[in-house]
Amino acid sequence: MKTFEAICSRKSVRSYTGEGITADELNHIITAANAAPVGMGQYDGMHLTIVTNPELLKKIDQAGAAMFGKPDMHPLYGAPVFILVSTKTPAKMMENVAFSNAAIIAHNMALEATELGIGACYIWGAVAAISSSPDVLKELNLPENFVPCCGIILGKTDYKYVLREIPANRIGKNTIE
Ligand SMILES: Cc1cc2nc3c(=O)[nH]c(=O)nc-3n(C[C@H](O)[C@H](O)[C@H](O)COP(=O)(O)O)c2cc1C
Repeated sequence: MKTFEAICSRKSVRSYTGEGITADELNHIITAANAAPVGMGQYDGMHLTIVTNPELLKKIDQAGAAMFGKPDMHPLYGAPVFILVSTKTPAKMMENVAFSNAAIIAHNMALEATELGIGACYIWGAVAAISSSPDVLKELNLPENFVPCCGIILGKTDYKYVLREIPANRIGKNTIE
C-alpha cells in the first residue's frame, strides 16, 4: 500500500472480532511508533504501554464509561489491544509539543495498522478517564513523572479498508500570497 493510499483508506474502526494481533503485527506497529518524529528528538520523554490483559482492559473500559456517565458504553469497543502513549510531565509552555508528540505517535501506529489490515481507533476519551482513576493509573505502571496523553486500540476486524473519498475542503483554510 502506498502512503497516500494508507492515509486515504485509514478509518476509525469500532468493531472488533475479539481476536488479538500477532507478535509480528505488534512489532510492526511499535516500529511505526518509534519511527514517529518527536520534538527535539526527545524520545526518552515518551512512553508506550501495551495492554492486552483482559481484566485491565475491562477496568479502563469501565472507567471510560463511568466518566461519560454511560454505564452501558464500551469506549474500548471490545478491542483486545490498547496502547497508551504517555509523556514526561511537560512544562506548561511545552505542553503543545508533548501532546503533539503523543498524537503523531498514535497516528503512525494507526497508519501502520491500516497497512496491515488491522482495526484501529484513536482513544482520547478513555485516556482522560484513566488520568482521573488512580487505581487504573497505578496498574499501568508508568515510569515516574509520566502522564497519559492518548491511546489507540487495535484488533482483528471484519472491516476491510478501502480508499475513501476525502472532501478536500472539510478543514477550513486561508491562503496568503
Ligand atoms: C485527537 C483524537 C481523539 C479521538 N478520540 C476518540 C475517542 O476517544 N473515541 C473514539 O471512538 N474515537 C476517537 N477519535 C476518532 C475520531 O472520532 C475520528 O477520527 C473522526 O471522527 C474521523 O473519522 P475517521 O477516523 O473514521 O476518519 C479521536 C480522533 C482524534 C484525532
